[in-house]
Amino acid sequence: MQWIEVTGGQTLQGKIRPATAKNSVLPLLAATLLCEGPCRLCDVPQLRDVDTSLALLHAVGGRAWRCGKDIQTRPATTLNGRIPPELAGAMRGSVFYLAPLLCRAGQVSLPLPGGCHLGPRPVDIHLAGLAAMGAQIETEGERVLLRRNGPLHATDFTLRLPSVGATLTLMMAACLAAGTTILRGVACEPEIEDTAMFLNACGGCITGAGTPVMTIRGQESLHGAMHTPLPDRIAAATYAAGVAVAGGKVCIQHCRPAHFESFLQMLVKTGCEVETGKDQVTVSRDPAWRLRGGAELYTAAYPEFATDTAPLAAAVLLGAHGSSSICDRLFQNRFACAEGFSAMGAETVREGRTLKIAGDAVLRGAEVEAPDLRGGAALVVAALGARGTVRVRDEGHIRRGYAHLAADFSALGADCRETWAK
Ligand code: EPU
Repeated sequence: MQWIEVTGGQTLQGKIRPATAKNSVLPLLAATLLCEGPCRLCDVPQLRDVDTSLALLHAVGGRAWRCGKDIQTRPATTLNGRIPPELAGAMRGSVFYLAPLLCRAGQVSLPLPGGCHLGPRPVDIHLAGLAAMGAQIETEGERVLLRRNGPLHATDFTLRLPSVGATLTLMMAACLAAGTTILRGVACEPEIEDTAMFLNACGGCITGAGTPVMTIRGQESLHGAMHTPLPDRIAAATYAAGVAVAGGKVCIQHCRPAHFESFLQMLVKTGCEVETGKDQVTVSRDPAWRLRGGAELYTAAYPEFATDTAPLAAAVLLGAHGSSSICDRLFQNRFACAEGFSAMGAETVREGRTLKIAGDAVLRGAEVEAPDLRGGAALVVAALGARGTVRVRDEGHIRRGYAHLAADFSALGADCRETWAK
């Protein structure tokens, strides 16, 4: 069992660079299976979800290995479409293998994917879109079986909601489908544009990625390419949240501030200073100032306030002056971290999808449990402002998305360390 131990009260200073984005790396790794040539993904962080994805890729017959900081792939000789349940259950990103395996192996058997317990996470939009391209779909207990007779065909498909995962699935499938597919009502998250850039570098023809309507001209085959995934906007927001809580001044370098602008705007409203450059942002807060609360936040699809940053925003607002509320419109159970906040002395109430935060909390030392990836990170961030030592027990959620969260904050001056114990 991993523990992150934080003794609050130290301000943060310095510079930090976020890793490349987990939520780009996962679809990119799966997308390499679409390619008939070698691929190289550069600067890929050592995350648990990346290891799970590599294990999944190997299990279906793919060839990929780490080369220093990069991941190198070679085209598979034979692919099988059977995704092992223990790997599908370990992360939601297993769903990204659906389209590549259907296209390249002709069939796929996917046990329902796992991931953080954020509430129901159906795959109906992925399946409806693939069915519109000619996939035959059956469900067998907890597995979905997909087959195709001949190549998939193009379609004009409207997503019933802008699902990030379904957009990626259908975009990947359309790259090798016969004809020109139009996808409407798609998600516009930067990770989708990033995956489209990679696929286009492999010979794909995707236009409109990053807008609600995408057009994809199917190709006979794709070759390989080299690609550096974009910087992790949620990791960048995590560091920014840390400065807001602890005080100090930190420059987050090599990031894309526009990708987490809604979060930065929230910080400005609380009274933090935010200086934005082209590829860096400096966040500062005088620890003597009291942050302003009174925020009323609603999460929604990009570019609105991101669901993944909602627990981080909560961590910032716990000690701010005045009450705030955050409603997560995407996931039912986004605020499982509220229990940990309460154990540290914050007053929060969960009402359905909304977290109500009384504000003005003076946090104390406590032993808390990371309920999921972003909730775990939010507990660490909140602890940076606690009077006393907070021990965050983590059965591995945080390492799914942050290679060295404790070391990152410690390098900025926090009294924060990672320990292993039962
Ligand atoms: N949904 C459906 N049917 C579908 C697909 C989605 O009803 O077929 C619903 C979901 O239940 C959810 C909403 O649509 O309520 C949004 O889900 P979406 O498909 O957009 O999310 P996802 O692809 O499962 C990715 C990220 C999440 C991030 C969300 C939203 C990955 C691996 N995961 O999930 O990241 O919160 O988009 O931006 O890319 C994380 O990194 O910790 C994380 C959970």
